[in-house]
Order: sequence, then C-alpha cells, then structure tokens
Amino acid sequence: MTTRHNAKLAEALESCRPVSPAKPNILKMLLAIQSALGHVPVNTLPQIAQTLGVTEAQVAGVLSYYSDLRTQLPGRHLIRVCMGESCMANHGGRVFRAIQDHVQVAVGEATPENRFTVETMSCAGNCAVSPTVMIDEDLRGRVTPSDVPSLLGPYK
Ligand code: FES
Repeated sequence: MTTRHNAKLAEALESCRPVSPAKPNILKMLLAIQSALGHVPVNTLPQIAQTLGVTEAQVAGVLSYYSDLRTQLPGRHLIRVCMGESCMANHGGRVFRAIQDHVQVAVGEATPENRFTVETMSCAGNCAVSPTVMIDEDLRGRVTPSDVPSLLGPYK
C-alpha cells in the first residue's frame, strides 16, 4: 500500500469512528472506505473491526451482504447491469450475456487491461425504458444485445 492509500484509509477510519461505542455503523465505515479507496481491501478488516469495536466476522458479514460493496479495485469504467423485474422481463438477461461476451470477464473482476468491471444492480429506477445499463454515471435505457459494442466503444 502507498502512503497516499494509507492516508485515505486512516481518514476514512477516523471519519466513521463511533461517537457511541454501543452503536458502531459498519456499513457507513465500509462505504467511506470504498469511497476513499475505490474498494474495501480485505486486509483492512482488522483495522475496521478495531476502530468500531466489533469483530472481524461482523465486518466481513456486512461486506459480503451488500452487493454494492466490492473488495477488488474496479476497472476504469464500471458497467452495472440492472437485474430488476422490469429489465429482466424486457430481455435484460440477454443484454447482460452480451456484455459479458464482449468484455470476457466474470462479474466483479476487472478486465486484464483494467478497462471495465461488470456488476449487477437492482432496479435503477429507469423501468420505463428498460432494460437498463449504467456505465459509470451514464444511465442507458432500451439497450439491446446488438447495442453493446457501440455502447462500450467510447469508454477507453
Ligand atoms: S427494473 Fe431495471 S430499471 Fe427498474
């Protein structure tokens, strides 16, 4: 880890130090660390647990429960495919498979050149134009499998 990485981690840990030891907020701490570092490194679990006064198992439980939390640094562009009911009813599964075929990487892992990471998400609130794909902060609707190459092309 770099000095900058350690400084960001220390800042995130300190910002979420519980005011009342009786009410540690593990999720808040994990979100702060992910915001600071881009992910929650597994080797930070002991520091998180110690700062909050909880066990490492409790931290690991929260980390594994929330799909928005990631333990690996994502690629430069994060592709999030909606798996909500409306998107699935409108062939979102085909779009998801087309994206996976295009980038050739498992969910949650970065492509070898670190260009993309693919994740799934629950309803993006864009049901009227489902199926929905979000690339970084760009929300795209009515995506078809054949759109995938042109959709991802601009993201270098
Ligand atoms: S179910 Fe996908 S945007 Fe709502």
